[in-house]
Amino acid sequence: MAQEIAEGSTALLSVGVIARRSGVAVSTIHFYESKGLISSVRTEGNQRRYAPVLLRYIAIIKVAQRTGIPLEEIREALRRYPPGSKLTAGQWKTLASEWRVDLDQRIQKLTRLRDELDQCIGCGCLSLEECPLRNPGDALGAKGPGAQILNRP
Ligand code: FES
Repeated sequence: MAQEIAEGSTALLSVGVIARRSGVAVSTIHFYESKGLISSVRTEGNQRRYAPVLLRYIAIIKVAQRTGIPLEEIREALRRYPPGSKLTAGQWKTLASEWRVDLDQRIQKLTRLRDELDQCIGCGCLSLEECPLRNPGDALGAKGPGAQILNRP
């Protein structure tokens, strides 16, 4: 798990409370936990309890998701910090700065695709030679599965 609750934590929260205070659904809390983004401890009655510091993690996860950062990347980024530690403003600034670079790169790619698509509007040729969005000879297919045209540098 990326974030475990530090030993000796007090005032642990139920899933309902942490969901309400973080503004996400209970199912989202469980989903984040299943993906290793947060973790809980179990009571003697086998109920999950969450450390209050996780509220900040959940806020960061939500912001990152809104910018399109994949959950796996979010998890890896959070793993840099001691499990269950309170993330500082400086740490958040570092994460946000990195994700801004990622967002800029995706914006550049999408802008280029939009500009190339502009050439297609009203054309309709879908020419292997002329259309910038075609994939001549499936050349990009050799680079692997998926949307290779989106992954161009
Ligand atoms: S359809 Fe003609 S340039 Fe894309």
